[in-house]
Amino acid sequence: MTREPATAFAFDAYGTLLDVNAAIMRHAGALGAEAPAMAALWRVKQLEYSWTRTLMGRYADFWQLTEEALDFVLARHAAARPLRQQLLDAYWQLDAYPDAAPALGALKAAGKRAVIFTNGTAAMAEAAARRAGLETLIEGIVSVDAIRRFKTAPETYRSVCDRFGLPADRIALVSSNRWDIAGAAAFGLQTIWCNRAGMPDEYADLAPGRVIASLSELMPAA
Ligand code: LAC
Repeated sequence: MTREPATAFAFDAYGTLLDVNAAIMRHAGALGAEAPAMAALWRVKQLEYSWTRTLMGRYADFWQLTEEALDFVLARHAAARPLRQQLLDAYWQLDAYPDAAPALGALKAAGKRAVIFTNGTAAMAEAAARRAGLETLIEGIVSVDAIRRFKTAPETYRSVCDRFGLPADRIALVSSNRWDIAGAAAFGLQTIWCNRAGMPDEYADLAPGRVIASLSELMPAA
């Protein structure tokens, strides 16, 4: 199926524009060899809570889930306990991947529209975007917090269409999270999977429209 090129782009935040492992890896020296496992567990638990709470209809915002997920990590890894507050603070100051600002800048120069679309609260995403120097390159932030359901609930993707005032097939979701690509494809958005980690494909019936290895590949094909 050939589609019209997207005129608007919704960028997932964590893992796509912002390096979620940065919060823990900044303290890798103090945490020792288990630091990468701790970072992975923090992320896995944070996402698990987002899916279970959406299925249960028991919303709690992404910051609360991020804290609860870290507390699970700290219960298992005593070495990290003294760093609790520093790890939480670091989450508000994540590094952007080096390809993030150039990709957003190139889209803007080409007259395309862009937002950050995230499970994170608007406050979390605004702080991270400002720190990473991305805030002048986007129109704004679409947070699922407004509708109190997490990705991959269809309403979350609908809120992107509402924000742009465009039909789903004119908007591309750009995400490094394959499950987010599946959710967007199920809803009818165009999809671009930024497979930074070289992961195998999954959700075969909900395939990405494009696969790129880095956001630097986004233009000029976009
Ligand atoms: C986000 C997380 C889930 O929505 O990556 O930004």
